Amino acid sequence: MQVTMRSENHVGYVTLSNPPVNAIGQALRQGLLEAVRWAERDRLDRVIVFGAGGVFAAGADAKEFDSPPQVPHLPEVLNAIDESFVPWIAAIEGVALGGGAEIAMACRMRIMAPDARIGLPEVTLGVIPGAGGTARLPRLVGLQKAVEMITMGKPIGAQEARSAGLVHAVEDDPIEAAFMVNSEELGCIVPTWEFHAPAHDPDLFHMARENLKAKMAGQEAPLRALEVIEAGLSLPFHQALTQERQVFLELKTGPQAKALRHIFFAQRAAKAPAHLRGVALEVRHAVVVGGGTMGAGIAYALLAAGLQVTVLEADAAGLQRAEDTIGKLTEASLRRGIIDAAQAADQRRRMTLSTQYSEAASAQLAIEAVFEDMAVKHEILAKLEAVMPADAVLATNTSYLDVNEMAARLMDPTRVIGLHFFAPAHIMKLLEIVQGAQSSDRAISTGYALAKRLGKVPVLAGVCDGFIGNRILARYREAADTVFMDGSTPWDVDEAMVDFGYAMGPYEAQDLSGLDIAHANRQRQAPTRDPNRRYIPIADRMIELGKLGRKTGAGWYRYPGGGGKVEDPIVADLAIEEAHFAGMSRTDYSGPEICRRLLLAMINEAADILDAGIAQSASDIDLVTVFGYGFPRWRGGLMDYADSLGVKAIVAQLEILAREDPVAWKVSPLLRRCAEAGQSLAEARPKL
Ligand code: 3HC
Repeated sequence: MQVTMRSENHVGYVTLSNPPVNAIGQALRQGLLEAVRWAERDRLDRVIVFGAGGVFAAGADAKEFDSPPQVPHLPEVLNAIDESFVPWIAAIEGVALGGGAEIAMACRMRIMAPDARIGLPEVTLGVIPGAGGTARLPRLVGLQKAVEMITMGKPIGAQEARSAGLVHAVEDDPIEAAFMVNSEELGCIVPTWEFHAPAHDPDLFHMARENLKAKMAGQEAPLRALEVIEAGLSLPFHQALTQERQVFLELKTGPQAKALRHIFFAQRAAKAPAHLRGVALEVRHAVVVGGGTMGAGIAYALLAAGLQVTVLEADAAGLQRAEDTIGKLTEASLRRGIIDAAQAADQRRRMTLSTQYSEAASAQLAIEAVFEDMAVKHEILAKLEAVMPADAVLATNTSYLDVNEMAARLMDPTRVIGLHFFAPAHIMKLLEIVQGAQSSDRAISTGYALAKRLGKVPVLAGVCDGFIGNRILARYREAADTVFMDGSTPWDVDEAMVDFGYAMGPYEAQDLSGLDIAHANRQRQAPTRDPNRRYIPIADRMIELGKLGRKTGAGWYRYPGGGGKVEDPIVADLAIEEAHFAGMSRTDYSGPEICRRLLLAMINEAADILDAGIAQSASDIDLVTVFGYGFPRWRGGLMDYADSLGVKAIVAQLEILAREDPVAWKVSPLLRRCAEAGQSLAEARPKL
């Protein structure tokens, strides 16, 4: 029974009960409809509807979205509530999202707990509200707020909902408060469907449309939601609902909604595997070695999660720099209202800065985040091992270096893992947990537990150069440099990838992070580089020219006065010169062709990564590309996107490219196996 009903003194209590978040599936819809009929049959004075487990309802059950909708449909159920002669009151605790908020809006009155949240986040799943949200919300809160909430999909808190007129009251105990509502007052409230729609405001829609094109470029649902709200203003209420439902059903089975659902569920499935649960070390005190940008970001993330944190630096200047950087992060959080002054003071109290490794003696976890030098990292890990408890976990934040080599020199290599954070470490959601050959279950499990505590998406990676994400990134950049060398410009490449959905292209992104890191990496790899593989020297020429990116005022682009990017003809000429020296003619690639090449290069590399067991599944690669590398979420991640193209088609395209360069475009054996077996990448498993 997902809906239970009981009455006391003519007051009905209807409980939504589908743990853990009361997602609204067929059984719950059916139960609600029966509750409406029950309340009417028993001629109750009012019905108070609330969710079991401290959550009102998290919306329609997205697991049902892949099958045809089953009756009763939610709009029909909500119309029955709205039109009933028995007034319903929604007592909202936890969250009322999507269909959950729509249930609440169909009630005559809404009362919210102070820490509850309400919203219509459907666009984040690639759909629009499908049970009256686009018609009811504007009627309740006005156009401006409704457009903002529906098109951006961001839920709001109780006080904001109260000020917007979405809820009638904010009370510690909303069920009790609903019981206390005066019957006359309740009787005076008209049903939502009888409310007048707000007056049309063409300027507001124009501005919202432009804003969405800029902020949510490529995404279908936000613009469709805007259209539906606008069209609904001139329609009678029930017709507005009908047109909304049609668009909802159309989007629900479309590629963007499927891709967004895939990421939603993949993110939730990213948890420690069963055999690792319950063996994690409880981390209360963590040490971060190195207070540069990355180390300070990691330290701040740990502080924000409530841990005691010690930052170790080599000298007083390093300590000062770390303190300043962490201080700035605290100030930014204060300014943005993420923390208040008391929380900031508490964070400061929990932080120690020191040059003494003895400060690590009571910590359960250390994360080294110094520059990429194996000798330095060895020295640090050995010092930590000497002072820390025998069961403490030693983690390296290396982006590329061999975790096995680091572990091998310690007395106990089983305690070493990689914890690869992404800059800015306190914001970026991805955490690659790198499993060394000897890493213990306890150490890996501690990595997962830490990710959970920090609110990060954990992905297990094996040891190789660049793990999952940076290995794909290196291939992406190599493909970009090849296209540039052979005929394009960095700005052509960037534009092509932005058109695909990236927030910025590979060259602009590299300018931001600095060209020197990749350069150092190429130098490190030089001795083991495949001599048969074509090497593109353009990025090395940039280093010779001192163009290291934004930090030197110029990289692939120029940044006059530290401002916006400007195309640099000198950079474009580099490729022309290099091609001239090499006696090569250049080709003019179209945007879609550039994009195709870069994506195929990444897909092929990712398939090799999966085949080698460096990644556990295609959906893990999707999480890495979306949460760490800006792959458009609404395209589902790299491998989900590849599956949407079809593995056979990918192999065919790679084979054609392999005629140009058989080494760079060598087709991954995993792709071939999948193509032959008619298997998708989602079903693919590493070769054993
Ligand atoms: N459908 C199906 N399952 C859902 C769900 C939904 N709408 N929302 C959450 N779940 C599941 C999760 O998959 C997870 O399952 P698992 O335990 O098997 O992994 C479980 O509920 C708990 O979810 P979280 O791990 O995300 O728990 P949190 O406490 O971190 O977050 C939440 C809870 C804020 C409710 C978050 O899950 C969330 O944002 N859910 C989606 C809300 C949403 O987008 N609703 C709109 C749906 S579309 C709609 O309503 C259409 C309507 O207009 C007709």
